[in-house]
Amino acid sequence: MSPSGAQGGGGAEGTLRAVTTSAPATAPPDAPAPSRTLVRLALAAIVVNVAIVVTGGIVRVTGSGLGCPDWPSCDGTRVVPQAGAEQGWHAAVEFGNRLMTFVVLAVVVWLYVELRRSLPSSRAQRWAGWLIVGVLGQGVLGGITVRLELHPLTVAAHFLASMALLVIAAMVHHLVTRPAAPRADDRLRVIAGALLAAAALVLVVGTLVTASGPHAGDPGTPRLGLDIRTVARVHTTLVWTSVLLTVVGLVAARRAGMASLAHAFGVLLAVELVQGAIGYAQYLLGIPPALVALHLLGACLFWLAALRVGLLALWPVPAVADAGP
Ligand code: HEM
Repeated sequence: MSPSGAQGGGGAEGTLRAVTTSAPATAPPDAPAPSRTLVRLALAAIVVNVAIVVTGGIVRVTGSGLGCPDWPSCDGTRVVPQAGAEQGWHAAVEFGNRLMTFVVLAVVVWLYVELRRSLPSSRAQRWAGWLIVGVLGQGVLGGITVRLELHPLTVAAHFLASMALLVIAAMVHHLVTRPAAPRADDRLRVIAGALLAAAALVLVVGTLVTASGPHAGDPGTPRLGLDIRTVARVHTTLVWTSVLLTVVGLVAARRAGMASLAHAFGVLLAVELVQGAIGYAQYLLGIPPALVALHLLGACLFWLAALRVGLLALWPVPAVADAGP
């Protein structure tokens, strides 16, 4: 995929664009190519947001959620946990995750500054601004989660807020890299929309499975009280719905000659199969912590792959270096 979007109208995609739309879907050859630093920073913003979800999961499965029982201080008096504190190594695990917030913040601020320098007043810059607001908000939501002693619904909200941040980070990456893709036809747009909705529901119901499962983040935290088998059944039904929509989308994109969209559907299908296998394994093996952490990583990759499909099909790249309103 060319960051500059130059493609000269050749190949099946170029032909298809000519017949499906009169508006150019990709940047014209004279649009300035984004700097390598900018592309890397946009990618880094995605990577650090995934990383903090996984480190947050490690906090949860190690039972370290109340390792620092207060917020913003760790123990009500000090920001940094005391050596030999009552919570022992759990305090270090939880505090490490708190520090990770600053890594995420540093990357998104750097991205914003770089966008302000190289693409001022662009949509990408504005969305990167919202990314900063979102990361700060996530820090506060993490604090509320601790103060509510890891209520399962705030833990779920904390995870889903990270998924919302991944949406924004993926949008910024999309605006910066301007992937060359023709405009999708109506059928593909409907499939992509339905797929995004199903994928979002997989995540939401997944958090309810977690809220009903054994890994609360602290041994004393109450669970939501739903029957885990029933919620897991709803979760897997939604997963299979996503898989079905992905296969339908893959076939439709191939038939339409849309190579990059077909590739995005193919990547999503591969992620779904691996993540589904991890899901079944973790369920059948009694939800071992290591698989839960892996399942969290897989959930982020699944969401990113679904977002890629959604962005390619539903959000044609701006024609001129992202200078839209
Ligand atoms: C594309 C496939 C899948 C995705 C994207 C996905 C996503 C998720 C998400 C987002 C969570 C919540 C994580 C959290 O709140 O920390 C979750 C939890 C869970 N999922 Fe899946 N899942 C998938 C497939 C499956 C399958 C096939 C099963 C099989 C039963 C499964 C079983 C579970 C279980 C048992 C939990 C609770 C784990 C815990 O207690 O922490 N998942 N999943």
